[in-house]
Amino acid sequence: MHIGVDYYPEHWGKERWEIDAQMMKKAGFNVVRLAEFAWAKMEPSEGKYELDWLDEAIKILSGYGIKVILGTPTGSRPPWLARKYPETTAVDITGHRISYGGRKDNCPTSKTYRRLSSRITEVLAEHYAGEKAVIGWQTDNEFACPVCYCGDCEAAWHNHLKSKYRTLNELNRRWGTVFWGHIYSDWEEIPLPRKGQDNPSLSLEHRRFHSLQVVSFQREQVEILRRITPDRFITHNFMGFSPWVDYYDLAGDLDFVSWDCYYNYSSWSERLNNYSLQAAGHDLMRSLKKRNFWIMETSAGPVGNRMFSRNLRPGELRRMGYQTVAHGADGLLWFRWRTSLYGFEQYWHGLLGHDGVPGRRYREASLTSDELQKLSGEIEGSRVKSEVAIFYSYDDRWAFEIQPNFEKFDYVSHLLCYYKALQKEGVNVDFTHLNSSLDGYRLLILPAPYIVREEAVQKLKEFVNKGGILLLTFRSGVKNEDNIPTEKTLPGLFRDLAGVRVEEYEALEGSWKVSYSVTPGVSYSVELDGKIFPCCYTADWVVPENAKVICRYREKHLKDYAAVTVNHLGAGRVYYVGTYFSIDEAYSLLLKKILKGVPLKRYFSAPYGVEVYMREKGSKHYAFILNHNEKKAEVKINNSGFYMDIISGNTVKNKITLPAGEVAVLKF
Ligand code: GAL
Repeated sequence: MHIGVDYYPEHWGKERWEIDAQMMKKAGFNVVRLAEFAWAKMEPSEGKYELDWLDEAIKILSGYGIKVILGTPTGSRPPWLARKYPETTAVDITGHRISYGGRKDNCPTSKTYRRLSSRITEVLAEHYAGEKAVIGWQTDNEFACPVCYCGDCEAAWHNHLKSKYRTLNELNRRWGTVFWGHIYSDWEEIPLPRKGQDNPSLSLEHRRFHSLQVVSFQREQVEILRRITPDRFITHNFMGFSPWVDYYDLAGDLDFVSWDCYYNYSSWSERLNNYSLQAAGHDLMRSLKKRNFWIMETSAGPVGNRMFSRNLRPGELRRMGYQTVAHGADGLLWFRWRTSLYGFEQYWHGLLGHDGVPGRRYREASLTSDELQKLSGEIEGSRVKSEVAIFYSYDDRWAFEIQPNFEKFDYVSHLLCYYKALQKEGVNVDFTHLNSSLDGYRLLILPAPYIVREEAVQKLKEFVNKGGILLLTFRSGVKNEDNIPTEKTLPGLFRDLAGVRVEEYEALEGSWKVSYSVTPGVSYSVELDGKIFPCCYTADWVVPENAKVICRYREKHLKDYAAVTVNHLGAGRVYYVGTYFSIDEAYSLLLKKILKGVPLKRYFSAPYGVEVYMREKGSKHYAFILNHNEKKAEVKINNSGFYMDIISGNTVKNKITLPAGEVAVLKF
């Protein structure tokens, strides 16, 4: 495994570099990422390159057996560049250029910026082509925003529309510009979306456009790096469920995906502190290329900028390290080595504090590194295999950001309801999209598949006919690819598959009050297995056609309608869930029902807060069992026989007891 830290030698005096390298070596680290924000140090004035300092740092590190990933430094521009080439600075939605002083403030389209970005990438690639310590590249840093409204972007937007729609007639027809009389007679008349009253077709196409600009910006760097250093890997540090760029697309040009996974923000919403979100993030990142990934940055201490968050609890850094490996990580770098004395991130803590003295967090990282290295001989080449997948679609996500449909709807939170229920069942989960192969999956969950294409539905029909289980939820099949509602009765193209029709739909009044807990005054509910669960946010008035009713709504005008149904089709089944539940248990019960009798690989029965995830290599299985609870937990082993815990060396049978926060890796 590659294990190490993100290191900024340029933030410290040279006399410190050797001390740091020694300490890293002592901790068992074998990799660092360097220089992704060091453009101004590399090129202090235009065309004048100074890489001696970086050569020296690499030399010292490699002297201790530490390999290097170099960042192309385009995530932060040197001040001279911003001043000399103002056109490289992004323009915000109000038409003003962003002021200098942060990072990622460049326009992704700007020809000037792309030229300068290519030039520095080329200089670095040529300079380090012969340096064996440099094993790979990270492009830029965390591609996402800003969405830029400059003249270059506007021109590129018009070109994009021309090449996609060919004629204005076609665009006018597909976007329905007859509404409010916005029929365009010249491409230049088409605005960038900024009104808040924009045409949803235009807004969705613009989200796609922004994503394409970022992908093509990266592609220019990738082409240079591949040409000059074909033997080095190229990756990028993704951000889990970040919505700005179509990550399937961005990952397409890379060798593997890496991501930045922070899990201890205490000032942010509680949801972010939940280990399920990190687990789902790992699964999404692995699924982008259907291969193992790296963690390029992860929590090393309290995080924050103006304020710091909670600290990592003893054992947490180790357990979360194991979690990454469980889900398919082959590389793990903590952000950052030592807490910065300077700049905006003074309170984003590294393994070492400001004082540079190795302490508890350093020791825990060393222990983790040591254990994972021992494990790595065993698990090398192993992969995560999943029989269950959740559809994750950027088109759907963007369309829901443009029109959430009903108050409080958040695409990712909805998807996580199902993810968490699957996690409780102890099964591996992939994310996927409709252009990908469905082979090997037994259950597919499509949370609100809003924008749908005919071919995709055909593919899903085949999947079900052959015995697959499909779960669709509310807002299925509502729109076409231009973000225009279908004229078919809902769920549109899914109607035959689901065997239901949605007669009407609505946002449930007052439902925001019951989003996270049951409060008095719950107005709508269903009964599942003898228990009452409140429904919130929305209700489809579902009329079964061929489907059977699993539960109906219990109150008022909804009484006549189904909430959840199942349709037996071919050798498979299609479930339709027409509402949102505010209690996790409802999803668990539903999935238990659905999975009953389905021969999924489930070797363990774990209690709440204990995560089980599996890697496989040939006939060998490695079950990672992580007790996220603050108390001990017992996990039942469903099969007979002896299992070996390769961390402790103990042999277990029938059950394993894990102390609070502990982990085990069972080989069988
Ligand atoms: C990441 C970023 C790092 C650093 C870190 C802490 O998002 O890639 O450069 O900023 O967060 O804020």
